[in-house]
Amino acid sequence: MSNISSNRIFINDVAVRDGFQIEPIFIPTEQKVSLINALSRTGLSKIEVTSFTSPQAIPALADAEEVMKEIERLPDVIYTALVPNMRGAHRALRCNADELNLVMSVSETHNLTNLRMQRSQSFDQLAEVIAFAKSSDVLLNVSLSCCFGCPMEGDVPMKEVLRWAERFIELGVDGITLCDTTGMAYPTQVRELCTAFRELWGNTELTLHFHNTRGMGLANVLAAIEAGVNRFDASLGGLGGCPYAPGATGNICTEDLVHMLSLMGLNTGVDLDALLMCARTLPSLVGHDIPGQTVKAGKVSDLHPPPAWFDEVAQRARVKALQP
Ligand code: COA
Ligand code: ZN
Repeated sequence: MSNISSNRIFINDVAVRDGFQIEPIFIPTEQKVSLINALSRTGLSKIEVTSFTSPQAIPALADAEEVMKEIERLPDVIYTALVPNMRGAHRALRCNADELNLVMSVSETHNLTNLRMQRSQSFDQLAEVIAFAKSSDVLLNVSLSCCFGCPMEGDVPMKEVLRWAERFIELGVDGITLCDTTGMAYPTQVRELCTAFRELWGNTELTLHFHNTRGMGLANVLAAIEAGVNRFDASLGGLGGCPYAPGATGNICTEDLVHMLSLMGLNTGVDLDALLMCARTLPSLVGHDIPGQTVKAGKVSDLHPPPAWFDEVAQRARVKALQP
């Protein structure tokens, strides 16, 4: 791929936040903690542990404090948490989150649906959080939802996305994540937006967050990589979805992503076998099948033996081949 400056790709697993937030059952805290501990040991760069949102809005993550406090934290992993407002920021800082992942939508309708505020109200609250958090050494990332389209409004103009990104970059955040909340992004659009972003702000960490709702997730990753992006959110098993975005389904699947990138010679630092072991625990945890495909099909290097009658057929073919 022409524009790759180094072959390192950084992956943030969001299954325990984006994934569990939409599950109809509450995953017990200790099971969340053991999954996060296992994920920590796979070599992932970042894990989105939980969200400090209203427990009425997101009951599945009402145990955010307990989860943050009980996980084992490895020095090479960044433990991030989603934060929608000042109250959430205080809670996350009390738990020593390494990063606050501040969230708002670039679609007015989705912001009102998801966060019950206008975009300008969200921005003002998050600007206050940023000013407050600047005195600590916590990292600050902003996730902008619906950057590639809104399931209620339709198209979101690229310049609108860049305008919101610029406002946060001017406040000095460390990174921006462009989110495709309901899988509306397509590769040429992704390449155009990522290229425009990188030309404007080459030094700001740019992460892409794709949902695979229409099967375009990994194609969009390749388009982003071609535009020089090397950070992606992905979800173990392909779980995920925003409960306040109609039609939302799972994120791109972490193990499918790692499997593809490693075949392409790109280094994620992730131990795929360890990740697959984690993915195999998911169906019993969430009580249903998961979208991830590598866990079912095996890696391309997991070969199958030929059928029992193979030798006989091969021998017959050899004899035939020798006949004039
Ligand atoms: N953590 C915990 N509780 C919170 C909170 C936070 N960060 N922010 C607000 N609350 C509580 C308030 O104290 C209040 O509680 P009470 O009813 O017991 O008094 C209640 O939630 C409502 O507070 P209010 O400020 O009126 O918020 P709201 O109802 O307008 O909701 C949000 C705004 C942002 C808090 C809420 O919509 C939310 O958490 N959304 C998250 C959605 C999400 O995570 N979506 C998926 C990820 S993109
Ligand atoms: Zn998402």
